[in-house]
Amino acid sequence: MKKVGVAILGLGVVGGGTYKILTEHRQKYIQTHGVDISVESVLEVRKERIHALGVDESKVASNISEVCSNPEVDIIIEVMGGVEPAKSYVLAALNAGKSVVTSNKELYCKYGYELEKAAKHNHVGLFYEATCVGGVPVIRALLDNLQGNKITSLIGIINGTTNYILTKMTNDGKSYGEVIKEAQALGYAEADPTSDVDGYDATYKLSILSSICFNKKIPYTEIYREGITNISPVDIAYGKKLGYVIKLLAIGKDSEKGVEVRVHPSFVRVNHPLASVNDSYNAVYITGDSVGDVMLYGRGAGALPTGSAIVGDVIYCATHTQHRYSTFENTETAAPDTKFITNFQSAYYLRFLAADKAGELSKVTSVLGKYGISVAQVVQDIDGNDKEGAVNLILVTHSTRESNIKKAVAAIDKDLTETRVAAVIRVVS
Ligand code: HSE
Repeated sequence: MKKVGVAILGLGVVGGGTYKILTEHRQKYIQTHGVDISVESVLEVRKERIHALGVDESKVASNISEVCSNPEVDIIIEVMGGVEPAKSYVLAALNAGKSVVTSNKELYCKYGYELEKAAKHNHVGLFYEATCVGGVPVIRALLDNLQGNKITSLIGIINGTTNYILTKMTNDGKSYGEVIKEAQALGYAEADPTSDVDGYDATYKLSILSSICFNKKIPYTEIYREGITNISPVDIAYGKKLGYVIKLLAIGKDSEKGVEVRVHPSFVRVNHPLASVNDSYNAVYITGDSVGDVMLYGRGAGALPTGSAIVGDVIYCATHTQHRYSTFENTETAAPDTKFITNFQSAYYLRFLAADKAGELSKVTSVLGKYGISVAQVVQDIDGNDKEGAVNLILVTHSTRESNIKKAVAAIDKDLTETRVAAVIRVVS
């Protein structure tokens, strides 16, 4: 019987879920994989977590050196989150000849190149399925099952907190401010929700996923990012009337023209498969040249879903002797020949607060026309007039370049004295 010892750094939500799965399923792995996986060490200062999970006190290490020098430990699971001390601990583990499984997307996204270099140098494994989309096995699918493809596009709802907030705003007609407070009270959003609501978390995940998809390093710093804090219930309601739902999308595309990577709120047609991904659920919609479209859906966070991804990596690591590393050059920055498209193309939903009088609409469309923007749909809502008597004028454009929209919107705000731009939201067809 092959024996494999693991250590868990951090017994928080995810560490606790991982501990539970590993201990409860221990007999199963003996039967299914012929490997006895035991938790030999934990690094956690909170005594209440150790007691709540029923961890044997003799397994509690007092520092990282103790974990790394424990001969019973083969694999170290890092579930602490944040960059430091997680980075130093992971490097210490790799340099001590231990394979590492991590759920830390910020760490892997920012320093994966450095960690992988240490893993290669020490001939150990580095696994990170749990960094993206929690329990949804997207990384393994990309690394193994979808290898028969050139992946051309990946569109995902890869942040559960923002999907929960936008779903609540859509269903209850509440403002962002109201919903974020409720979400924090219920524990669905962090006390400091910046990483989720401003889109950082999604850019970390998109960086990791798009690098694998497109087989080239896509640093998170190259990803266009816009969060959800400016989304208003008014636009969600008009979007609904026009047949759209709002989602924070992570979009990656690769073509001969270059790579396009962006995270921003988008209107999605109600019949698009991503439109029905609600609450804190995540999904990734991948297009490959052989398989066509594939959508992976499930829980992107939580103790057991993320623990499920971690344990999958532990078993893979325990049952494979040949470690594998990135198939692209995993460096800090993108390769010099990687071309990024920043002036991307999209359709747009534009809402104006406009004076309800003859000629105003034509002034707006004439500015749009000047920048080559063609209008696909127009709605004027006389019931939606504000205190000054301005009405909501909504236009959905045909696909155009981002730079055209920026110029047109700036020109309308500057030149039209009785119309102002109230919202600009991209529309994914
Ligand atoms: N904060 C993340 C989310 C969960 O809301 O999706 C873990 O990645």
